[in-house]
Amino acid sequence: MILHETYTLQDRFADNGLKRSVEAAHAKLQTYGGMTGWRELPAQSEELIQQIQQAAEQIRRQSTLLVVVGIGGSDLGCRAVSELMEHRLNGVKLAYLGGSLDAVSAKRTLALCQQHEVSTCIVSKSGGTMEPAVGTKLILDYLQQRYPNTWQSRVYAVTDGQKGKLRALCQKHGFVSFTVPENVGGRYSVLSPVGLLPLAAAGADIRALLKGAEKEQALCETLDWENNGALRYAYLRNLYLRAGRNVEMLCGFAPYTASLGLWWRQLFGESEGKNGLGIFPSTAVYTADLHSMGQFVQQSGGRLFETFLVPALDEEVLAVPAFEDGNDYLDGTELSALCRIASHATADAHNDGGVPVITLEPKDFSEEGIGELIQFFLNACAISALTLGVEPFDQPGVEAYKKNIRDMLAE
Ligand code: PA5
Repeated sequence: MILHETYTLQDRFADNGLKRSVEAAHAKLQTYGGMTGWRELPAQSEELIQQIQQAAEQIRRQSTLLVVVGIGGSDLGCRAVSELMEHRLNGVKLAYLGGSLDAVSAKRTLALCQQHEVSTCIVSKSGGTMEPAVGTKLILDYLQQRYPNTWQSRVYAVTDGQKGKLRALCQKHGFVSFTVPENVGGRYSVLSPVGLLPLAAAGADIRALLKGAEKEQALCETLDWENNGALRYAYLRNLYLRAGRNVEMLCGFAPYTASLGLWWRQLFGESEGKNGLGIFPSTAVYTADLHSMGQFVQQSGGRLFETFLVPALDEEVLAVPAFEDGNDYLDGTELSALCRIASHATADAHNDGGVPVITLEPKDFSEEGIGELIQFFLNACAISALTLGVEPFDQPGVEAYKKNIRDMLAE
């Protein structure tokens, strides 16, 4: 992953031993054990990849729509990756259930089902989360009514290997199922069957995704400050945080980066936001959000920094036509060139306002490029959290609201 420091204003912030702390965090991660199974996911077994491909082919034979049931770490990764390449995917269409408690959204998804042949992929590591439990009931009830004799063959599940209600349901009805590795937490699991199965069904090349991730993982294991962008990203984030900049905005420059922003937000928010520490992760899509958030950012007065996401290669070529509307200065300019100019102009302006801008440059949003980007963020997040002194792989604060809901339902 290429990380540019042209706009980072790094010389204004004091290191105070931070580089050594990041190196110590990196070393700690290499032998951390526990929930770091995501480091091995890019090199997972050929046998598993083939099983996923077979299930994906079966889904494509049976259906034109796959309803993914899941929430948080169980659906955001799939949403992020599929949205980045939606215009190139030629497999089943993806729809979502169980990511909210909203009846309108659920009814919309069920109405969409009526226009398609349908299968479902239910993803829940614990197998007991309330929102996907509601989604599971809705979709299984729907499938049972629509395909009374064959509904079980349209259900795919990804859950714990041994325990949980979803595992029990798989055993009872004989659903095709995959396992979320025990040592991989939800928000780190997109390159396990959690993301790979629905993405393969949608037509993504999951081998290329894993290949990109494997290349990045090899880089991230080195202490090479030149080429290991994860080290530098973790360093800059902590540098800014120590100087009081506790809000980060991840800014893509295309509408289809929005879900990636939400995946990134969960990854960093849930990994770092503990004990009153951590950077508040926020996300925007430029240039649209320059017209809504640009004012705040420009005059944010030392509270935040931005991370721009700008792929090196342009996927599409489209020149502005010379239609006579008085804006002749745009005629003949490539949109991609305009976009690049906009990113530099914005970084310049925000720098003038004292806002540091880190620029991440994945090679492109191909499967390989996305695989690199995912593995880059996972490593950077773990190193950054360990530098900060928090446990990157738990989420004790998520339990409180769940307990309240259970108590209120019981009443
Ligand atoms: O990252 C996490 O651990 C969470 O976001 C979980 O993925 C989310 O709460 C869903 O949990 P489960 O997969 O057990 O249904």
